[in-house]
Amino acid sequence: MSSSYGRFLTFEGVDGAGKSTHVDWVVQWLESHGKTVVSTREPGGTPIGESIRALVLNTPMHLETETLLMFAARAEHVRTVIEPALAAGHWVVCDRFTDATQAYQGAGRQLGQSRVETLAQWVHPCLTPHRTWLFDVPLDVAKERLNRTRTQDRFEQEESAFFERTQQAYWGLAKQNPARFKTIDGTQTIEHIRALLGIDLAQLLQSDEIKR
Ligand code: TMP
Repeated sequence: MSSSYGRFLTFEGVDGAGKSTHVDWVVQWLESHGKTVVSTREPGGTPIGESIRALVLNTPMHLETETLLMFAARAEHVRTVIEPALAAGHWVVCDRFTDATQAYQGAGRQLGQSRVETLAQWVHPCLTPHRTWLFDVPLDVAKERLNRTRTQDRFEQEESAFFERTQQAYWGLAKQNPARFKTIDGTQTIEHIRALLGIDLAQLLQSDEIKR
């Protein structure tokens, strides 16, 4: 990796964990510290990806179709947005990435971790986030938050056993990758969470400066 390569930061968590509230704040923090930032999301982030998002979030389909569509959107996203931005030295902040496919399709829908890993190796063999913030909340809190918001998509309407498997998978991924994952208690106040994110971002920035 060249010294001018950017950093890839991702947000993860079950629906209702509260991660998306903090994405713009992280982007603004980085920009105010001199970084050029690309803020994006999955599924989505490109015209093709956003079309796929509308389809997978709302149309019933087979698990294999759903998983391949997630990776089709990702292939386009990685090649046209994420990798070019990182190569230009920008920081990429992405709301969900392949950990979500592991958690939702691999575990929630029980496709299995190795199938998802095979697709990840094919689509982005050399790309792993430098930092992943996992927003963690008890599932009843997540559900209550979802019930308070807008109409729910196909995933948000899933039964509690689905979310239990999804959450367990996220915990497993965090345990397997302790240097990459930081788990954030999503029941804390917004101010407290931002203070934690700020400390972590300052450390990431510092380690980035040291490497240059
Ligand atoms: P969002 O609401 O956080 O933007 O995520 C959209 C939904 O898509 C969310 O319910 C999780 C789901 N999802 C998957 O099932 N697999 C994936 O690979 C990704 C990226 C998202």
